[in-house]
Amino acid sequence: MYQEIDLDKIDINTEPPAEEPARQYYFMAKCREWVREFERKNGRRPSFFTQTFGCQMNARDSEKLAGILGQVGYESTEEENADFVLFNTCTVRDNANQRVYGRLGELKNYKKHNPAMKIALCGCMMQEPAVIEKLRSSYRFVDLVFGTHNIFKLAELLCRSFEEQDMVVDIWEGTDQIVEDLPVERKYPFKSGINIMFGCNNFCSYCIVPYVRGRERSREPEDILREIRQLAADGVVEVMLLGQNVNSYGKNLKKPMTFAGLLREIEKIEGVERIRFMTSHPKDLSDELIQVMKESGKICRHLHLPLQSGSTRILERMNRRYTKEQYLALAEKLRREIPDIAITTDIIVGFPGEAMEDVEETIDVIRRVKYDNAFTFIYSRRSGTPAAAMADQVPEKQVREGFDRVLRVVQDTAREQVARYQGQEAEVLVEEINDHDEALLTGRMSNNTLVHFPGSPELIGRIVRVSLDKCQGFYYMGHLV
Ligand code: 5AD
Ligand code: SF4
Repeated sequence: MYQEIDLDKIDINTEPPAEEPARQYYFMAKCREWVREFERKNGRRPSFFTQTFGCQMNARDSEKLAGILGQVGYESTEEENADFVLFNTCTVRDNANQRVYGRLGELKNYKKHNPAMKIALCGCMMQEPAVIEKLRSSYRFVDLVFGTHNIFKLAELLCRSFEEQDMVVDIWEGTDQIVEDLPVERKYPFKSGINIMFGCNNFCSYCIVPYVRGRERSREPEDILREIRQLAADGVVEVMLLGQNVNSYGKNLKKPMTFAGLLREIEKIEGVERIRFMTSHPKDLSDELIQVMKESGKICRHLHLPLQSGSTRILERMNRRYTKEQYLALAEKLRREIPDIAITTDIIVGFPGEAMEDVEETIDVIRRVKYDNAFTFIYSRRSGTPAAAMADQVPEKQVREGFDRVLRVVQDTAREQVARYQGQEAEVLVEEINDHDEALLTGRMSNNTLVHFPGSPELIGRIVRVSLDKCQGFYYMGHLV
């Protein structure tokens, strides 16, 4: 973990060191010089704005990027019209890409009025060669482009971009490098995501993630535990372990370790009160993991278990490597062993070759598993993936119809499922002041359900007991007890 390094003591008149993270400390020190120069000229520090698209992995990456910018001397702002604007992009579905292009149009306008503004793009979308081509030809006003494998290099790239006039592009196709000990700026003081692994080896046929995030790499358990101990000492009570497929954690370590084994170690860390993780692939969910969850007082009663489709025929074409029956048996085992668990899922509608009978199979699984929540997506054709080349793409009208049907069933079952604790009491981690009503606080139950209740902001970050008075669809209204 990054311990306050005195960047001002680094000699930036020598050659940069070759090894990491020392090299990045050197460039952070060098950027600091530039920031001081800016401050002298403008009478204020330069500001930065980051916008994250996509998943929790990206959110965590953005905290690391903000950490580096903070160390360098930039000041964070909520204004998009900042001196440094960074979009951390997602490309899992095409609509995420389109949103980025839309926002870039707006940035172009800001830059007209503030030519010194720097615009940077990073993340999954940048790992696609077609995107880079498009940026080079039609978005020349972008200053800096990097991908998913080299975010730790932000300071070095920033220095380059101060020195070069042209668009700086640095995309790595893959990496086996994991750079530790860089600064992080956490969004919440009391909870934090922690990467336990990077990349994905599953190659589900619709998914672009293995191409843009590379092969599976696990962090060393000692590094993870050290980071969590430090976070706990810093006041973090809830940790979210992040990986594309956490159930295959540790397989490629020199000294292999299972995910369940890692959880056992994290459980021992004093100060950590809640442990969450995401995402689990059903094919790799072990009995050992169920056992550890069952015995744990800290692992939250929530499992995100992507189904994608309930039709065995479609699952096979998706390369998911489980059948409808195997998935149902797993869900049943989970409910038997951990009765108070909430199961949530991801579903794709409109995968190539999907007929209405297949959608009915998906609906059958939703009714039987009774999800607390399900994220339902319309299939998005990602070029380069095997599914994109499949001949039988589903007509839009049929996809819409299937999607609406699935959504209705999800909403009905989720409402019933979430309401099953009405009238009871629950431990709630208070997260923030309610978005709509300042007199209310918003917190989360162990099973991830949101609860709103009257209370004062000092409670933020604390675990309190709340009576779950009324279920309103997907959340509760309650009061402190
Ligand atoms: N189209 C639609 N949804 C997708 N997902 C991944 N790839 C695609 C795609 N090509 C969904 C899956 C995954 C979630 C993160 O995004 O449901 O679990
Ligand atoms: Fe994509 Fe499948 Fe990997 Fe999830 S498990 S990131 S859906 S390839």
